[in-house]
Amino acid sequence: MMSCPIDPKNIRPIIFLAGKCRMLDQRKLPAEEIWYEYDKYQEVAEAIRSMVVRGAPAIGVAAAIGAWFGARDIETESAEEFMAEFEQVCEQLAATRPTAVNLCWALERMKNFARANLDRSVLELKIGLEFEAMAITEEDERLCRTLGQKGAPLIADGARVLTHCNAGALATGGYGTALGVLRAAVEAGKAISVLADETRPFLQGARLTAWELQKDNIPVTLICDNMAGYLMSKGEIDCVIVGADRIAANGDVANKIGTYTVAVLAKEHGIPFYVAAPLSTIDLSLADGSQIPIEERDAREITHLGENQLAPEGVAVRNPAFDVTPARLVSAIITEAGVVQENYLQGLAGLFNQE
Ligand code: MRU
Repeated sequence: MMSCPIDPKNIRPIIFLAGKCRMLDQRKLPAEEIWYEYDKYQEVAEAIRSMVVRGAPAIGVAAAIGAWFGARDIETESAEEFMAEFEQVCEQLAATRPTAVNLCWALERMKNFARANLDRSVLELKIGLEFEAMAITEEDERLCRTLGQKGAPLIADGARVLTHCNAGALATGGYGTALGVLRAAVEAGKAISVLADETRPFLQGARLTAWELQKDNIPVTLICDNMAGYLMSKGEIDCVIVGADRIAANGDVANKIGTYTVAVLAKEHGIPFYVAAPLSTIDLSLADGSQIPIEERDAREITHLGENQLAPEGVAVRNPAFDVTPARLVSAIITEAGVVQENYLQGLAGLFNQE
């Protein structure tokens, strides 16, 4: 455990340097800014599972670094044996959280690199995998900045923007997806203000979005999740922007629980509902959102607030961590490769063909 200075304009939840990585404990924010240092894949797997690090792109970055730690510790001279053990390392990292596809995307990229270089020595494979993990880490922030530029024109000067959960710098390699679009709008000179849903039960909005926007001097007002409808009916919200954990080929979007409710409310009030996500969040192998696995988390997140029990002992609890917003409720999907506003089936596939 250690402290580490945070640059408010360049918040990064993961620092990968000199064979180790540091992760900011997002469970403790905003009360404490605590960093952990890891150099074992099992530690990284536990950090993802326990949500020290969270947010789809950030857990992809973490998984890539964890995979390299695992690769580095494999003791064999045979590339085939190395690959078999590396697959097992990746399998354990992949099993940590099921919904965000970025996790599997990053691990697939690491495995594909290894598979394509099996004619090399194990030492060369390990060095190559370190570079691949570094590339995934650095690319993520760059892609967020590009995505921000593409999405910023959708945000009007003076807009009052609702967001749900945290799709900011903390949820990515840096800069953010939904909050990246808002940062880019601010950098373009627009005066915007943000309403942050508190995002029960893990409180990513209250703890993380409020913290990072405050640090970045972007005006933010915190509301409870059940206030969005009232504020929309009063004309106090101009648009909604959220991130995503997985987007199916038809444009259905899995994101933090409560996103679907906000999208239905936005439709009722004629308010645009935008989704910002990198291409690594789009899963063209799934025809629609019904096929996206939804993580169910511990009942204690609902029954307790910290150590304090709120609900009666033994009460039955449901705790799905994500929901699926049907594509028909989504006004635009903003990616680093462009913005798709209609006919998602063709539009999303088309983004990959441009690469
Ligand atoms: O459970 P979490 O905090 O990992 O959920 C995060 C979200 O739902 C985010 O909105 C999503 O991952 C996009 S982050 C750029």
